[in-house]
Amino acid sequence: MKRIGVLTGGGDCPGLNPAIRAIVRRGHQLGYEILGIKDGWKGLIESRPFGEVFSCSTTEILKDEDVSGILNKGGTILGSSRTNPLKIENGLEIVGDNYDKLNLFCLIVIGGEDTLSVAVKLKEKGINIIGIPKTIDNDVGGTDYCIGFNTAVSKAVSALDDLHSTAEAHHRVIVLEVMGRTCGWIATFAGYAGGADFILIPEKSVSVDKVAESIKRRHRQGKNFSLIVISEGATLEGKEIAEEEYDPFGHKKLGGVGQVLENLLKEKTGLEVRSISLGHLLRGGSPVPSDRILASRFGIKAIELVKEGKFGRMVALRGRKIISVPLEKASNTKGVSLDIYKEAAIFFS
Ligand code: F6P
Repeated sequence: MKRIGVLTGGGDCPGLNPAIRAIVRRGHQLGYEILGIKDGWKGLIESRPFGEVFSCSTTEILKDEDVSGILNKGGTILGSSRTNPLKIENGLEIVGDNYDKLNLFCLIVIGGEDTLSVAVKLKEKGINIIGIPKTIDNDVGGTDYCIGFNTAVSKAVSALDDLHSTAEAHHRVIVLEVMGRTCGWIATFAGYAGGADFILIPEKSVSVDKVAESIKRRHRQGKNFSLIVISEGATLEGKEIAEEEYDPFGHKKLGGVGQVLENLLKEKTGLEVRSISLGHLLRGGSPVPSDRILASRFGIKAIELVKEGKFGRMVALRGRKIISVPLEKASNTKGVSLDIYKEAAIFFS
């Protein structure tokens, strides 16, 4: 029986478990054995396979019962990490060696742009590899949407709905900061759906004076509260708010821009302003139905690609169709379309 390895790498998101479930269920139907690899690339770096694979602590043969009841569960039963084999001495060689020792026929990598960039390097080494795009940031190139994005948007919208009443009751301006790294997908979609009175994203620089002016105008027009959504990677007066702390893929730790905007808006509007950051709450909890379905479709398609021997590809959503694109496409990070931002802005400009 041919053995397919599967791992989840990078920041987790809702929808990883439905993807694993689909890989296992469809894989078994088509006669494959599925080996779960724990904690992303870390599991393939640290595995010490010998003899029977069952003796290896970082891997586990997945049976149908292992994926039963996980469709609605957040996180990932396999665990995840930001381990980057390219930053470890002979990391890629170790991964390739363990791929052979684990007797894998193919490896399915569920990850964002970082995790998939390692998959591209393994593809270049001749390893049979298939990618599945996931990230709440929705910034992976080659696909319309990634697993996890819709759930994150839905959580941010629900937060905005809740903030609405308290902002209104206290006649306050409330700034909501959301994740998204250097892309404003979550902020734009959540702000649009949640009726934000201003949206700030990395892809479109706006002066704080303009935001303050827009809020003051709204208040002059009789509204005595406002909601603002800001993406963690948005710049304020040309500056990014980040810590000098980098992850293994070289990304700075973001967070705090909402608080900075709160202070600037207090000064510039004289209004009462509060800020709140949703942070990792956007990555937790149960996936929404559209993420469960997208993840399942991606998992099924990945197994079909294995069956057809189409390696070195990433499954992707194009319109309503699940297609596959060369794995390299994942690295063309994709910002939110300014067309949709402009539409959202019709309601606040
Ligand atoms: O890429 C997903 C993401 O949640 C980003 O939106 C965020 O900047 C980053 O991960 C946070 O990473 P960590 O969980 O490692 O702090």
